[in-house]
Amino acid sequence: MKHLVVATRNKGKIVEINALLTGLVDQVSCAADFTDFPETIEDGTTFEENALKKAREAASFTGFPALADDSGLVVDCLNGDPGVFSARYAGEGAGDAANNARLLAECRTVPDDRRQAAFVCVLAYVTPEGDEQLFAGTVTGRILCAARGEGGFGYDPLFLVDGFERSMAELTLLEKNKVSHRAQAFEKFREYLAGIKRDAV
Ligand code: IMP
Repeated sequence: MKHLVVATRNKGKIVEINALLTGLVDQVSCAADFTDFPETIEDGTTFEENALKKAREAASFTGFPALADDSGLVVDCLNGDPGVFSARYAGEGAGDAANNARLLAECRTVPDDRRQAAFVCVLAYVTPEGDEQLFAGTVTGRILCAARGEGGFGYDPLFLVDGFERSMAELTLLEKNKVSHRAQAFEKFREYLAGIKRDAV
């Protein structure tokens, strides 16, 4: 694929997505590369709705195929919160530190065996011609009682990845991009593009 617009300003996501798109796309642009790129109001109740809304606005604004990632943390003992509100769990405009502090506070009295959670990522791929595709990925783990690690972004320091003795923030970028919710969704996107290429031959 020649040119893909990634509809995000989240620096943590951009680092991971650039690595995940290696070899797949000749030129990757993101929101910051355009003047007046639309700020999508994420008022959907699902990751799918928000991802589609972001990708549709980006494709129609730029005239290029667009990919949007809507993702978040789903915590069992909090009835699925923060979910689609992950970016603003501690309030509108809240940063990672405040969101993590709220998550720790909400889980403070929850015992170890009830701290299951999952990161979810939904990718929406929308072309200016109106083709729309969704790809989802999930990784399960547990909410830690204190932050561990310096890597990644968002809730990574509080998420112990199933099958690892490390938090998501203790994984290298390479390791995270093998196991994460985002990596799994991108694997499906990669397979989809490969299928289109095969059909075109
Ligand atoms: P979005 O920009 O509306 O998709 O919100 C994503 C939010 O979910 C981020 O701001 C983080 O708080 C959280 N999140 C999504 N993916 C990750 C991840 O890979 N690690 C840590 N937090 C994540």
